[in-house]
Amino acid sequence: MVVAIDGPAGAGKSSVARAVAARLGWAYLDTGAMYRCVALAVAERGGEPSAVAATIDIELGDRVLLDGRDVTEAIRRPPVAEGASKVAMDPGVRRALVTKQQAILRTGDWVAEGRDIALVVAPDAEVKVFVTASAEERARRRAADLGRDPADVLRRMADRDRRDSSGERSVLAPAPGAVHIDTTGRALDDVVDEVVALVEAR
Ligand code: C5P
Repeated sequence: MVVAIDGPAGAGKSSVARAVAARLGWAYLDTGAMYRCVALAVAERGGEPSAVAATIDIELGDRVLLDGRDVTEAIRRPPVAEGASKVAMDPGVRRALVTKQQAILRTGDWVAEGRDIALVVAPDAEVKVFVTASAEERARRRAADLGRDPADVLRRMADRDRRDSSGERSVLAPAPGAVHIDTTGRALDDVVDEVVALVEAR
């Protein structure tokens, strides 16, 4: 079974997805980490992003390994986040990563988090959730995580959102049938309860 959790940066996807996976005892797939790995590899080694995406080895778990190297912290840096949203515009990169993600999701029970999980990666997901929060709350959370100025984070996030919803990919669009959850001002546990209840109802 697959639970798809999509939504914009800072909406609370990662916290919700991790906690739901822990509660259910299921595996957690962070697809954003894969785009971040491609961006980091391209920044470090150069090369055509789609070729890099097709050839790098990404291992996701407690730590993120890129060709065997621990990049868990390196991929969280703001320039890598920006790079990720740029390489993610390349259809060849998306094809390569979606293929990897679909292979991963074929076995077992997963909570998968991203932008296009319910629309593209796992359209047959049994539970689809689209998580949002106000722009100010999203920027505040990201700024607290990164120890940065909220106004600066808000500006960068707006740029990233624009790229994420531009052109033909529109990865920020909610899938038909997705349950919208606005996490603004809500406690994490409360949101997790709601998603787990959706899973149990299936
Ligand atoms: O979720 P996270 O902030 O780690 O994602 C980094 C970037 O990767 C996003 O801004 C987005 O451009 C891209 N991404 C994507 N599709 C996904 C996951 C992430 O395009 N499924």
